Amino acid sequence: MKTDKENIFIKSYGCQMNVYDSTRMSDSLGHEGYNETGQMDDADIIILNTCHIREKAAEKIYSELGRIRLLKQKRSEKGLETTVVVAGCVAQAEGQEIIRRAPIVDMVVGPQSLHRLPEFMKQRVAGKKVVDTDFPEEDKFDIFSSGEKKLSASAFLTVQEGCDKFCTFCVVPYTRGGEYSRSVAQLLTEAENLVSRGVREINLLGQNVNAYHGEGLDGRDWSLARLLEQMAQIDGLERLRYTTSHPREMTDELIGLFAGQPKIMPYLHLPFQSGSDKILKAMNRKHTGEFYRDIIAKVRKTCPSIALSTDIIVGFPGETDQDFEDTLEMVRKVTFSTAYSFKYSIRPGTPAADIAQQIPENIKSERLQTLQALLNQQQANFNKNSEGKVLPVLFDRTGYKDQQILGKTPYLQSVHVKGSPRLIGSVHDVLVTSGGPNSLEGDLVMPQT
Ligand code: 5AD
Ligand code: SF4
Repeated sequence: MKTDKENIFIKSYGCQMNVYDSTRMSDSLGHEGYNETGQMDDADIIILNTCHIREKAAEKIYSELGRIRLLKQKRSEKGLETTVVVAGCVAQAEGQEIIRRAPIVDMVVGPQSLHRLPEFMKQRVAGKKVVDTDFPEEDKFDIFSSGEKKLSASAFLTVQEGCDKFCTFCVVPYTRGGEYSRSVAQLLTEAENLVSRGVREINLLGQNVNAYHGEGLDGRDWSLARLLEQMAQIDGLERLRYTTSHPREMTDELIGLFAGQPKIMPYLHLPFQSGSDKILKAMNRKHTGEFYRDIIAKVRKTCPSIALSTDIIVGFPGETDQDFEDTLEMVRKVTFSTAYSFKYSIRPGTPAADIAQQIPENIKSERLQTLQALLNQQQANFNKNSEGKVLPVLFDRTGYKDQQILGKTPYLQSVHVKGSPRLIGSVHDVLVTSGGPNSLEGDLVMPQT
């Protein structure tokens, strides 16, 4: 048993999946008597929960570790020990190499082994390094405890991890491993726990969330649509979302929920990556531009007001001006309320890294700028079109200004209104008075006394 409380500092990089994993780490270590701190300097244990998806992720971690080395040294001069942990996808990809390059690191723990952290912590022996980048048989979600802390109105819940799609640019199948879906029973228990702690909106997470196929309540595999239907029965849960979806897994059943299940929010994040069929093939996306547009047409027919979001990569190896034009054309035809766009970045070990015709950096930057100008315009139009509408807003935090509260519309737009912090944690109608490029402003329709 531990007696004195050690401080833990967790820094999270990258995707929502990582933010979620960090919360679970903090919950489960909190359970074991560790104390979370917001200050790295105060920490006895520093955890970097890393992301490897784009750009020079590993290099960023090594430079952060350089800073931590000095901190560890200073603390050691004061007789204080510091345990440094590198967790997440960079840990998975680099393994032992991290300790070789940064000997101050004590533990390297891949995303599938995070639940072993409390055990690793207890068994710590000064100078003994731990490297765990296995894909263990046991389920990390079983072992992570559910916690009792009061939560914000909107929460994430990982339902599925990993990916078998092997897009040629992507490291996820290597760092997060193959697809794995959690059981419906386990997810319902966790969702009920979240709702009992104040959560009103749950965003189901997965790298390929709509490929979900976990064990259902009847022992058979259930689809994401069935899971959502079941979860929607939870009293007190008002909103459900899911992300990220793959076009090939967008079933009619799932699309139908946009009309048939009022708790499913009218928002869909569906990456298309490129508008060129030649590039889509080289990316191993297993869908064409036409296939994507057909899905969008079905979704729009089911839910005309839906807000669409996407991921796009520019400058994939071999992308010509015409291929890029096809991407712009896709954006013009579909129109998105928000989008995430990236310059292709080489991930060593993925097939696209070996393609000879890499695109020069300046062309990638130019294309990204052109694309983002179009996307920003579409986002601004989408927000402008909300002016004059009354939308239900789930308030989840206070703003910077006095008496200002912030929340989200069903379309995932941020809204600022003047109102009492007592409204945080519930849904109220707001008349949108102004739609800016990044957020909305509005007035409560029935100001509370
Ligand atoms: N280069 C650029 N963008 C990438 N993404 C994934 N891998 C890469 C890469 N190597 C983008 C994709 C994906 C999003 C999460 O990150 O658009 O959908
Ligand atoms: Fe990566 Fe493609 Fe899987 Fe998405 S679908 S996680 S981009 S391999």
